[in-house]
Amino acid sequence: RIAYVNGQYVNLRDAAVNVEDRGYQFADGIYEVCEIIGGKMVDFPRHIARMQRSLRELRIAEAMPLTSLKVVMQEVIRRNRINYGIVYLQISRGVAHRDHGFPSPDVKPSVVVTAKSLNFAKNQATAAKGVKVITTAENRWPRVDIKTVGLLPNVLARQEARDKGAYEAWYVDADGFVTEGASCNAWIVTKDGKVVTRTAVSGILAGITRAVLIEVLASMQLKLEERNFTPAEAYDAAEAFVSSASQIVMPVINIDGKPIGDGKPGGIATRLRQEFHKFAA
Ligand code: PDD
Repeated sequence: RIAYVNGQYVNLRDAAVNVEDRGYQFADGIYEVCEIIGGKMVDFPRHIARMQRSLRELRIAEAMPLTSLKVVMQEVIRRNRINYGIVYLQISRGVAHRDHGFPSPDVKPSVVVTAKSLNFAKNQATAAKGVKVITTAENRWPRVDIKTVGLLPNVLARQEARDKGAYEAWYVDADGFVTEGASCNAWIVTKDGKVVTRTAVSGILAGITRAVLIEVLASMQLKLEERNFTPAEAYDAAEAFVSSASQIVMPVINIDGKPIGDGKPGGIATRLRQEFHKFAA
């Protein structure tokens, strides 16, 4: 496999960043994950717009022109012969002697791009069965709207889920509302057919998949409610699911040990999963 690191295409096993890279030392960087279908990036413009926003919010300089970045990402996909999978882009504030404050402006951001194939049949099989989630206390910083590589709370939450035999953990904030999953947005469908997900105003990353799903819902004449919901409301929901670039729509059949609906993937989640790629661009 081939990776792109700061201007060069290298074998993944040799790909490395400097030990004084601020991404490595301070998690001082951002990332994006974009789905690849038929060798092409899905919703690339939206991912790039979010990347630019993350960089702006952290005052990290744009590493290279967007057109070049697109070419690099396409080239990594091509060199790895990815048909279905994901491409990963990481940009850090660059390499400098360890000091918490920003380095001098002539330190250039580091850019890394990798890509990997995913097993489509395996993902479909997982979606056909549905997955279990647990809830856990929100313990992340308030700026989860920025897609930073500072993911330690997410790592611990995902492992807590795994240790409990679940696929994902949903965070619950101090007010008792679900925010999102460790690496996905959280959704429920009420018994009267309304699709509910938290507003992107606070507490969540504004998922690209989430934004596209909102358009899919409208086209399917489904009712959307962007509002907070509690674990108790989720336990009692007709359906639940999660969304992200790597899973698109993954039905949730059990939360904290309680079966959701009839304990099988819901009809709306399943239809959304099928319709999604008609809208993604
Ligand atoms: N995760 N919330 C969090 C905390 C995420 O990490 C992600 C994405 C999402 C969904 O965003 P999108 O639909 O744009 O992928 C929500 C990526 C896939 C990851 O970390 O691998």
